[in-house]
Amino acid sequence: MNTASSNTSAAHAPSTSEPAWYEQGLPHIWLPYSQMKTASPPLPCVATQGSRITLADGRVLVDGVAAWWTACHGYNHPHIHASAADQLARMPHVMFGGMVHEPALRLASRLCALLPGDLERVFFTDSGSVAVEVAMKMAIQYRLNRGEHTRTKMLAFQGGYHGDTLATMAICDPEEGMHHLYGSALAQHVIAPLPVDEASTARFYSLLEQHAHELAAIIVEPLVQGAGGMLFHPTHVLQTLRAAADRYDILLILDEIFTGFGRTGSLFACQQAGIVPDIITLSKALTGGTMALAATVARRHVFEAFLSDNPEHALMHGPTFMANPLACACANASLDLFEREPRLEQVAAINTILTEELEACRHLPGVRDVRTLGAIGVVELERIANPDSLRQTFIAHGAWVRPFRNIVYLTPAFTISEDELRHLTRTIRTVLAG
Ligand SMILES: Cc1ncc(COP(=O)(O)O)c(C=O)c1O
Repeated sequence: MNTASSNTSAAHAPSTSEPAWYEQGLPHIWLPYSQMKTASPPLPCVATQGSRITLADGRVLVDGVAAWWTACHGYNHPHIHASAADQLARMPHVMFGGMVHEPALRLASRLCALLPGDLERVFFTDSGSVAVEVAMKMAIQYRLNRGEHTRTKMLAFQGGYHGDTLATMAICDPEEGMHHLYGSALAQHVIAPLPVDEASTARFYSLLEQHAHELAAIIVEPLVQGAGGMLFHPTHVLQTLRAAADRYDILLILDEIFTGFGRTGSLFACQQAGIVPDIITLSKALTGGTMALAATVARRHVFEAFLSDNPEHALMHGPTFMANPLACACANASLDLFEREPRLEQVAAINTILTEELEACRHLPGVRDVRTLGAIGVVELERIANPDSLRQTFIAHGAWVRPFRNIVYLTPAFTISEDELRHLTRTIRTVLAG
């Protein structure tokens, strides 16, 4: 971890007026997950560097979220910049239908070398949700190509989150996710509790007995269910899922969109459980948080089920910006940084500080649990009455922390300095202590 000392105070007082682009553009913007009638106005942000976000009025926030868990090397890493600039000058984009290019092929071969087992075919897309949809299509068509026309459902888990598109919402937690809002517009899948102990494992196996004939795949976020509330489960759960998938001849999809690239302490979470999924999905930190890119990677036997003289056995998917060369160049540069710089050691050092610093929150009023894994620190509360106003309090302390559901969490860049990290944890302790 970079321990260079730094001024992490909440910085300057805000200026009174917003920039013209803000005043002119805001009435035309529809923001994510926001009740546009009541939400606090978004922050005008003008620059990012390392783990700092500069606002238009000159205030500087220390970033505890790393741009929705993507910016693992911090913002504006010079190596990613240089690679992007070079690729931009040569070929920012070209279609991938009938053509290939070096950034994509190099990235595919490097990802396959890093992933365990025979995960060896990469299908690039441009967002996590679409990568999951492609994984679902691969699993369903794997069945169809083998003449198994009834096996089109997924088995997913309570607490799970796999995206916001219609197909992925249908495999998110039905109560906590967005299922209930969209009701009958969503496909029906089987949603189970995770098999964490003897009783839930028995229930899980009886669900499989009942539904195996209609299941194409089991899908899970390994070790951490992120958007479901940073819920952790032990590695034996993944081993149970692998064994069950093998026993019932069901594909196992691991959604490592959040957990991939070091976040849980190993490059991929599945490595801690020593299992190999049939399909894995990656995005978020794939480009070090610089460009939109995602990958769905399949094992050899999955890919081979699509090889046929029948053209209809081909995977029918092809986003316009698939394998965008600029994004692939950034992802290659991000992988260079994982090779050259001690990212996993930095994650371990972050874990030590998060564990030590957040533990003090355990005895604060309203705190239900404190947990950490890799570069993830979570304080779970009984409830958060108003996450939006809690966020404003963190901002006033110079910290970008975004509470949701009943949790306050940190997922910083792996390059965050010790001072910056301690500023975030101290702020959480101060704010939660009231
Ligand atoms: C595990 C997981 N899967 C899928 C997604 C969806 O990714 P995207 O927002 O890029 O569509 C997310 C996003 O948070 C995620 O955490």
